[in-house]
Amino acid sequence: MFKRLQADTRKPVGIFVDGTAVTAREGDTVSAALLASGLDVRRTTAVSGAPRLPYCMMGVCFDCLVTVDGTGNRQGCLIPVREGMRIEIQKGKREIGR
Ligand code: FES
Repeated sequence: MFKRLQADTRKPVGIFVDGTAVTAREGDTVSAALLASGLDVRRTTAVSGAPRLPYCMMGVCFDCLVTVDGTGNRQGCLIPVREGMRIEIQKGKREIGR
């Protein structure tokens, strides 16, 4: 389980994860905020449905795909959080039109 450092004094940023309000920190990526949220943030793969969590945190593995503000297949490790952002944990493949 990931925990934030107690000395982390960065400004809070409110986001929504599958409709649940979560407090991230300014400068967090979406993946970092998800891992620190304490929520079950496992996506599933398109082919086998295998569970995945963010792994490399630098844009290489694609294990962090999420839907951000209605757009699917976004690499959460490369996207900084912003106030009011709506994130959905992607289950399977991206839906057509998203
Ligand atoms: S965690 Fe590997 S690409 Fe995002």
